[in-house]
Amino acid sequence: MAEPLKVGLAGLGTVGTAVVDLLERGRDKLIARCGRPIEIVAVSARSRGKKRGIDLRKFRWAADPVALAREPSIDVLVELMGGAGDPAKSAVETALASGKAVVTANKALLARHGQKLAALAERRRVALNFEASVGGGIPIIKTLREALNGNAFSRIYGILNGTCNYILSRMEEDRLAFDVCLRDAQQLGYAEADPSFDIEGHDTAQKLSILASLAFGAKVDPNAIYVEGISSITLADLDAASELGYRVKLLGVAVRTEAGIEQRVHPTMVPKESAIAQVMGVTNAVTVDAEGISPITLVGPGAGGMATASAVVSDLADIARGVRTPPFGRPAARMTTIRKAPMQHHEGGYYIRLLARDRPGTAATIARRLAQQDISLESIVQRHGIAAPPTSRPGRSGEPVPVIMITYATSEDAVRRALAAVRRDRVISGRPQVIRIEKN
Ligand SMILES: NC(=O)c1ccc[n+]([C@@H]2O[C@H](COP(=O)([O-])OP(=O)(O)OC[C@H]3O[C@@H](n4cnc5c(N)ncnc54)[C@H](OP(=O)(O)O)[C@@H]3O)[C@@H](O)[C@H]2O)c1
Repeated sequence: MAEPLKVGLAGLGTVGTAVVDLLERGRDKLIARCGRPIEIVAVSARSRGKKRGIDLRKFRWAADPVALAREPSIDVLVELMGGAGDPAKSAVETALASGKAVVTANKALLARHGQKLAALAERRRVALNFEASVGGGIPIIKTLREALNGNAFSRIYGILNGTCNYILSRMEEDRLAFDVCLRDAQQLGYAEADPSFDIEGHDTAQKLSILASLAFGAKVDPNAIYVEGISSITLADLDAASELGYRVKLLGVAVRTEAGIEQRVHPTMVPKESAIAQVMGVTNAVTVDAEGISPITLVGPGAGGMATASAVVSDLADIARGVRTPPFGRPAARMTTIRKAPMQHHEGGYYIRLLARDRPGTAATIARRLAQQDISLESIVQRHGIAAPPTSRPGRSGEPVPVIMITYATSEDAVRRALAAVRRDRVISGRPQVIRIEKN
């Protein structure tokens, strides 16, 4: 049999321990598929004494993951420590510079340093594989990098954060408030003690930056992404969306437009019958619009030890077979600085919910402000069960009346200008809620 592929594993947490387990259980299958065994020779983590539920006695312990990365006894470094800084960054750089392949699940590292690391891997002619960094067990990186490498992409969008999808699903299905669902997500271990990175959309943005680079050949740049989280979404929005034939999801969207590549993360209304709208709970999904084929949606577990380990092991199997592709699907030197399409130029339909003051002329004022920006309405719903045209009087009880409008395609600029004018006119209370609509 051919020489084993020798692995140094840095990080023995949720994913690392699952990788140890999966490599052991899948040993014979991997030999059959790759023609050689994949063997862990050394492991590293912060604390040697920690109980991890796996037998580590047969592996050498490396106190320093960076030293492990340059050890001549390993062919591949598997980096599962996480974080954009050290020791993950130094360990990955050291391994690549020493001519060793790297497998990582670290989206933060790739979003921040992906470009440089890809160039280094290419210079040293070694693999840098990161299937587990986006969508956990969903093989979306390989799909973009290899399976669809003959197609031009027009749009890629997805549910890339299980915590947010769990919260929005629970709110809708169990008719609960955002805070209650967030607390449940924390108790179930889906959300961190500080959940802001997830619910404010930054986790999704990091993953989107990786997908956008693969799809559009743009340099990885999370700062080119417009980001808005889900904390302002209320049950009233989900109810209205449902009534109008939509469901609300936190989507990461990268789309080619005339103005450049638009990258955005925000709560999004998707048609209820679309594939992405069916995805509930912690599950992730990515839809790819590529030239020549109808949209492809991949759905699966976006996190969890075993699901993520499955992606890590698949990356290792490629290396064991001698498969090496440019990390971002094209030479790093050919990746271009992204022309960021400004969000004001975004065009699409909008959901607008506002509280109209109960005064004569309110509805007419709102209608005039929309018309001044050439915004036409596809539908309008005035709460309390009355569907009213925008020229009718909003309410009779003295209370502000919720008015929900769906616009035809218009620009972000137009919506912002119209709503600013309506607020200046003092015909609404509070801030209007605006949710962008993504058609399938
Ligand atoms: N968990 C998931 O479902 C999931 C899904 C997709 C991607 N990922 C990515 O996979 C990576 C690992 O995630 P995880 O959930 O397995 O994390 P985790 O459970 O927190 O484990 C991290 C591991 O890295 C070790 N470590 C941390 N800092 C270290 C340091 N300074 N020196 C040496 N070792 C250090 C820790 O050592 P100790 O155990 O001794 O503390 C621990 O074993 C991250 O990049 C994450 O974003 C995770």
